[in-house]
Amino acid sequence: MNQMPNNLDAYWMPFTASRWFKENPRIIASADGVHYTTMEGHRLIDGTGGLWCCNAGHNRKPIVEAIQKQAATLDFAHSFNQGHAIAFEAANRLTEMAPGFDHIFFTNSGSEAVDTALKIALAYHQARGEGQRRVLVGRQKAYHGINFGGLSVGGIGLNKGQFGTLYPDAKHMRHTHLLDRNAFSRGQPEHGDFLADDLEEICQTYGGHTVAACIVEPVAGAGGVFPPPKGYLQRLRNICDRHGILLIFDEVISGFGRLGTAFAYQKFGVKPDLMTAAKGITNATVPLGGVFTTGGVREAFLSGPPTMPDLFHGYTYSGHPLACAAAIATADLYRDEGVFENADAMSGPWEDMLHSLADLPGVIDIRNMGLVGALQLESDETVGARGRAAFEKLWDAGLSCRPIGDNLAMSPPLIVTEEHIGQIGDMFRRVLAG
Ligand SMILES: Cc1ncc(COP(=O)(O)O)c(C=O)c1O
Repeated sequence: MNQMPNNLDAYWMPFTASRWFKENPRIIASADGVHYTTMEGHRLIDGTGGLWCCNAGHNRKPIVEAIQKQAATLDFAHSFNQGHAIAFEAANRLTEMAPGFDHIFFTNSGSEAVDTALKIALAYHQARGEGQRRVLVGRQKAYHGINFGGLSVGGIGLNKGQFGTLYPDAKHMRHTHLLDRNAFSRGQPEHGDFLADDLEEICQTYGGHTVAACIVEPVAGAGGVFPPPKGYLQRLRNICDRHGILLIFDEVISGFGRLGTAFAYQKFGVKPDLMTAAKGITNATVPLGGVFTTGGVREAFLSGPPTMPDLFHGYTYSGHPLACAAAIATADLYRDEGVFENADAMSGPWEDMLHSLADLPGVIDIRNMGLVGALQLESDETVGARGRAAFEKLWDAGLSCRPIGDNLAMSPPLIVTEEHIGQIGDMFRRVLAG
């Protein structure tokens, strides 16, 4: 069906100001490569690669065909004490892409991956006789999805405010956005590694032996795009090691080439104990998420009776055949087309384009890393109003971006060319200068 719906009420849309949306509904009809086309025939560059997830661009034939073929062969089989080959194949293929990780637990989304990782961390300590480790540490401005655990360790007040306290033992480190010291940094900012010591403070306050895990996005995304200060992630790793805390990288956005390497932990040379992924794992074609674990973490679960599940956790659709087929075809396409290599090659022109916009009125910060970036506009008395207004004008000019308060975030498909990057820069200049 591709005609304008005559009723926009039944669908309760996610994270949407529905009354504002309905005043001027932006409805996308089709997509191809780095472009969207709306119902009215308006063509736009998809500046956010779906929602940081269509890494190889839209409607990629090899992935579409793999899904079609799988649906006609084995549409579904569950994985509770039985299996199907393609789930094992996908797990092998994906762990090969993540050196140092030997296992993956499949979920259906990034939010489920985060909650699964937090539960694995708690159960890991319990299995090793350290069940007193209950504290889960997150960070201000962090986005870890919207389920109970991820929202608890997340740090975006607007997302949490409607629900109150969820997990009682969640603590938060400060965010790493030091606007006064680091504004307009290219890539990783110089200042702020000391902010990792907030984890040490939490250990001193509550006892390091009570902390189960610390979770961070290597590059914070949905909170506003904040690359980690130089040395910050290594400092977190050292504190975790000192206190026996599991370090979790939430790579739901940064995974699958966003920074020019398969995963961000490779880019930064800091290895977590657990890693979440989703989004680009299937190029967003079929929902799939996963938690990558090391052999050491997995081993702790294998000392119980062999006839009992080693983890009392799983989803009906864990390892769904269609998602697994999509993941394998996506991994092949990333390899065959050199998609991550292109992201790496384009990160320089991307950085140059973004920072060339620094002179535009109202721009108070620009941040970038790999093929992620954000322009921060000065807020007026209504925070978010300028961001929303710029988003509307950019849409009309032919670019979709993601307003986060007064930040305009972007994460284009990793197949962008210098020409696309130039077009994005031109649209920003036209809209923000006027
Ligand atoms: C870092 C991070 N974790 C988790 C999630 C949640 O993923 P999903 O929307 O697939 O549940 C997101 C989504 O943007 C994310 O950016």
